Amino acid sequence: MCGIVGYLGPLNPKDVIMQGLKKLEYRGYDSAGLAIIQDGHTKLIRAMGKLQALDDKIKNESWTGHIGIGHTRWATHGVPSERNAHPHKARGITLVHNGIIENYHEIKERLLAKGAHIASDTDSELVAHLIAEEYEKVKDLKSAVERVLPQLTGAFSIVVLCEQSPNELIAFKDGPPLVVGLGKGENFVASDVQALIKYTNEFIYLNDREIVKLEPSKVQLFSSHGVAIERKSVTLNWSAELTEKQGFAHFMLKEIHEQPRTVAAAVNSHLVENSVRLDRVGFNDQNYFENRETLDVEKDWQNTQKVLQGVERVFIIACGTSFYAGNVAKYFLEKIAKIPVEIDIASEFRYRDPVIPKNTLVMTISQSGETADTLAAIRLAKEKGALTLSLCNVKNSSIDRIADGHLYMNAGPEIGVASTKAFTATLAILNVFALGFGKIRKSLPVKEEQELVASLRALPSKMEVVLSYDKYFQAAAKTLKDFKGFLFMGRGTSYPIAMEGALKLKELAYFHAEGYAAGEMKHGPIALIDERMAIVMVAPRDHYFEKTVSNIEEVRARGGYIISLGSGDDQALKRISKQYLPIPVSDWMTNPILFVVPLQLMAYHLSSELGYDVDQPRNLAKSVTVE
Ligand code: AGP
Repeated sequence: MCGIVGYLGPLNPKDVIMQGLKKLEYRGYDSAGLAIIQDGHTKLIRAMGKLQALDDKIKNESWTGHIGIGHTRWATHGVPSERNAHPHKARGITLVHNGIIENYHEIKERLLAKGAHIASDTDSELVAHLIAEEYEKVKDLKSAVERVLPQLTGAFSIVVLCEQSPNELIAFKDGPPLVVGLGKGENFVASDVQALIKYTNEFIYLNDREIVKLEPSKVQLFSSHGVAIERKSVTLNWSAELTEKQGFAHFMLKEIHEQPRTVAAAVNSHLVENSVRLDRVGFNDQNYFENRETLDVEKDWQNTQKVLQGVERVFIIACGTSFYAGNVAKYFLEKIAKIPVEIDIASEFRYRDPVIPKNTLVMTISQSGETADTLAAIRLAKEKGALTLSLCNVKNSSIDRIADGHLYMNAGPEIGVASTKAFTATLAILNVFALGFGKIRKSLPVKEEQELVASLRALPSKMEVVLSYDKYFQAAAKTLKDFKGFLFMGRGTSYPIAMEGALKLKELAYFHAEGYAAGEMKHGPIALIDERMAIVMVAPRDHYFEKTVSNIEEVRARGGYIISLGSGDDQALKRISKQYLPIPVSDWMTNPILFVVPLQLMAYHLSSELGYDVDQPRNLAKSVTVE
């Protein structure tokens, strides 16, 4: 979704903004622009397409000044075009905006009736007009913004620049994320810390309906009614280096190769010798965000046990890849913790008026922690009295801050729009969660716990082995170009892995691919099978194996092209498949983490072979902060 960067200080704002926007490219966008106050005037330049197009337009201009805002736009109201790109200006007021103003029709009519000249089709420009009107009355930017807020409905964040008051930026958040970066004699505001890591590691996260006034040496926080708020800053230890490609052709490839390390980082702090300790969850700890780093882990584990003992069922809610991870978790939790699990797509859950019985734990999974539907779902779950637990990658994100309990993927920044390392880190932490929950519910024998922990510890090196077979996956990907369609299938935990494999192929290579439970094949998809259909079978040696082999035979009888992924040197699979890809032998809970890696790599290679934009596939956004 849209990316915002604002800066005031001694550096050249153009450089800070362009570098920040570059770091936000992963969010997805179709146009970009920036505005800087220079010699008392607002210099505003916008361009359609990639940041390179904006860069080409501005590189021969002279840029001075000490305050500016920039934006990458992902179109909602109005087609992608230069005219609709941000920033938008109305008299001396210029702004950038992320989100949606729902009552924009009504505002537009009101403004047109008053003779306003509206230059774009966006809802954003209207807000600039409203602020300009109020500014003319009160001559104070913060008060003008405050007076406009009650006139707007929707979920949106804005950053505002004023020609007549060139030493301040005013920002407001209600929905899409905004974070303030603190510097010495300079301050920043952006949609994501990744835009600012190069300049500072000191941040203040805005909550919904908060206004911030930034000056070069001062940052003040207010409620939307202008009441001052005190908030401590947070120090982050993500280095700028983590957000670079480090020699890989694409962020996605780098992220795929980081997985042995990120999977280890996800689980290691919860493994104590050969057992699991589900600690650092901070259930119902009011001071969790201040004390997170210094938490007494043993005490926290006691607290987690006490809280989870009372839980009788689990709902898991998420979108996209995170939803598929939730589907895998259903198998883990039902088998290991013997607890009923329901799994839901957030956009369905939030509008369905779901019944949440007493003693339900509602767990959300979200890499970004900002997905609008998942955020609304966790809010609804809380309203309905559920205990909530967030599993996310971005600490202090909106979902993280709302939840009663907190688990982290610890995967580091994920820049590639298609999720890879966050998915496997999620599956790894869900292993730990299921084992911890199983212990609490006394449904997990000690011996089984020890074996599964040993298997988790061995996982990173097995992942290294999978990655070392990349040339086979690359060769397999080459053969896929000419098929008319793809069916990914599996049973048990391999079913959501098949869905994730199909999603990766759709997102990256723009092929029609479907993920199916192999047992469902006879109920419809079998009609699709002929020699132009490629079937990717996820077939580890687990207790579904024989059934999956029967499905492969059925595909073979109809001339489908079979690529199967199996455990080790599986002669049976080799015999019946056109291509066989061996995966190191592991147990049923870590298999999904190993088996998804070749599917990520095949989609990656196919996409780069076809010359597509791997890191920013068309129409996609990294964090979907609007519905
Ligand atoms: C993953 O490759 C996708 N880009 C997408 O499905 C993503 O998983 C989904 O939008 C959910 O995002 P979240 O985990 O940040 O909530």
